[in-house]
Amino acid sequence: MIKRHPLKGPNQLKLGVFSANADGGLAITTVEERWRARWSDNQNMAQIADRAGLEFLLPIARWKGFGGQTKAREWSFETFTWAAGLAAITERIGIFMTVHVPVMHPLYAAKALATVDHISNGRAGLNIVCGWNPVEFAMFGVSLAEKGYDQAGEWLDVLEKCYASNEPFDYVGTYYKLKNVVSRPASLQAPRPVTMNAAFGGPGRDFASKHCEYLFTTFTDIDEGGQHVADMKARAAEHKREIGLYTVCHVVCRETQAEADAYYERYALAEADHGAVETHMSGKKEFSSSHDTEAYDRYRQRFAGGAGSYPLVGTPEKIADDMTRISKQGYSGIALSFVNYTYELPFFCDRVLPLLRQAGLRS
Ligand SMILES: Cc1cc2nc3c(=O)[nH]c(=O)nc-3n(C[C@H](O)[C@H](O)[C@H](O)COP(=O)(O)O)c2cc1C
Repeated sequence: MIKRHPLKGPNQLKLGVFSANADGGLAITTVEERWRARWSDNQNMAQIADRAGLEFLLPIARWKGFGGQTKAREWSFETFTWAAGLAAITERIGIFMTVHVPVMHPLYAAKALATVDHISNGRAGLNIVCGWNPVEFAMFGVSLAEKGYDQAGEWLDVLEKCYASNEPFDYVGTYYKLKNVVSRPASLQAPRPVTMNAAFGGPGRDFASKHCEYLFTTFTDIDEGGQHVADMKARAAEHKREIGLYTVCHVVCRETQAEADAYYERYALAEADHGAVETHMSGKKEFSSSHDTEAYDRYRQRFAGGAGSYPLVGTPEKIADDMTRISKQGYSGIALSFVNYTYELPFFCDRVLPLLRQAGLRS
């Protein structure tokens, strides 16, 4: 019997790990202990997170890196095959796959996602991204679609029909014209694995509010985070739906605030991979609306620290407080990154999780 997906479990604030499949994780730094994302690293990270009772592992979809001294992100594991491997060596944790709609056929995705759902006994999750990096898409000979989310709507429709239909079906859309389609097995989760969309801008929000259970998004300051939640709830209500919001934070958790600040300063300022940070920031600024415009100029350290995500830097108490404030803004979960996941997750889990239990956010 398949169990309830971990994202549908009782904890008010779900926690997971983001981007461990890629070199650097979310950081863009030259420090020696930076994340190399070897398979053994990923295995260890996943088993630590699984045993600690975190709810999900979420990979980044990346095909090309950002250059610089470290060739940040050039090394990254493809997310379906990564998920399949981790599904086989974990027991409880939800495992997402992150898909660039324009470069993966929905029929291929339907089969691969169902395969991971079977290997994991119903723990698979889908994270849809429409992508923002034309340099990356050029490697496929694909241009960034102006109406990427229209295509994503059809893409998801095809995938859902694959699972719903025992009989071959034809599909006639704008982007997909398919004949006699059949795809067995269906996913174990019905009608399909839990699905989120990673976006910040209006079109992505509309797509998520119509089609997904969750939006995966960023905010600049905790106190303004609730605006995005309210906006999404209103958009979903127009479709008579409910939606949850997940966000992403990079973490430096240390015994003292001074230690945490010093390390953040070192890896994300003094020893940042400045060339790669520049490439990443200028590309995102030009081609995506993932962040508020002023965020780029104000928060360069955040881009080196965690790809522009919000920093949780300090003692276990400070980080638990910040997480409590994020939860109070209405977020259902946080995807976390660390400079080195296997070195830093154990301390985080040992020290921050009990505080979140005391705060009533996790059991
Ligand atoms: C939290 C978050 C995670 C994302 N993860 C990825 C990713 O793994 N790969 C990718 O190419 N783009 C990723 N994106 C970028 C989105 O795919 C999208 O291209 C970008 O947000 C611009 O679209 P938007 O205007 O809808 O936000 C992410 C965006 C956000 C906000």
